[in-house]
Amino acid sequence: MEHGPFSLEGKVILVTGASSGIGRQCCITLAQMGVTVILIGRNRERLEETRKMMCNEDKHIYWSADLAEIASLSQLAKDINDNVGPIDGLVNCAGVSTTLPLRFVELEKVDDFLRINVMSGYFLVKEFSRAGMFNHGASFIFMSSIMGIVGEVGKSLYGLTKGAIISMVKSLACELAAKKIRVNCISPGVVVTPINENLPHIANADKRAVLEKKHLLGLGKTEYIANTCVFLLSDASCWITGQNIIVDGGYTIQ
Ligand SMILES: NC(=O)c1ccc[n+]([C@@H]2O[C@H](COP(=O)([O-])OP(=O)(O)OC[C@H]3O[C@@H](n4cnc5c(N)ncnc54)[C@H](OP(=O)(O)O)[C@@H]3O)[C@@H](O)[C@H]2O)c1
Repeated sequence: MEHGPFSLEGKVILVTGASSGIGRQCCITLAQMGVTVILIGRNRERLEETRKMMCNEDKHIYWSADLAEIASLSQLAKDINDNVGPIDGLVNCAGVSTTLPLRFVELEKVDDFLRINVMSGYFLVKEFSRAGMFNHGASFIFMSSIMGIVGEVGKSLYGLTKGAIISMVKSLACELAAKKIRVNCISPGVVVTPINENLPHIANADKRAVLEKKHLLGLGKTEYIANTCVFLLSDASCWITGQNIIVDGGYTIQ
């Protein structure tokens, strides 16, 4: 049967942050679309949990790795390539979040945040854009945030990592176009996941109501972000590169 432009049937996609939240949902949705998924995170039990939630669970493979250890990413990419072969796409969902007033920000914390939120995906793209590591028409996706576009008290550290992603994808897209690799990012509004469910602005009912109001279409669900990934990974988006797709229920238009 002829597959349409939105089809992901038969593709191999690597998803980081696969043990939780948005990354977990991407794995579930991509598996439904006929993708073979390579799941990456640190926590094996939660990776295994994700795999059990996916259709055709046995065809997917997971790797436990600390992506903040940048020097180990080259070997990780080689191991994946040896076992699975070239990939058709990469969805970088691994990340950490914080609300931290400037006076509490220490150099070590900035270093940690840059490593996991920016450098891990950057160096994975470096590894997987080498010859033999990707298939023709590959698509690489980063998770930015509306905090890379607008500001909020206590979000300078998180926001600087997310703003970096938005600018990084533009130049990566220019450079990798010659290899026919597309690079884009998604900027979600607030999606309720373990990264933020215990933070006061979500856990406290009054604060949550204020936040809900800012999102004209309500708070986000992980499915909304996963579905955007489906589009960006598919041939339906073959003329889109270097872009930041804002998926925020109307937060940033006001
Ligand atoms: N949720 C939102 O409202 C929202 C909004 C905008 C943007 N985002 C972005 O979307 C991405 C996913 O967020 P989420 O809400 O799904 O978060 P989450 O539920 O907390 O999941 C974060 C994931 O990152 C992985 N991770 C963290 N540090 C890692 C490390 N050193 N090495 C390997 N994996 C690591 C975690 O896996 P392990 O614990 O197994 O290592 C986990 O799977 C993040 O980049 C976040 O900034 C989220």
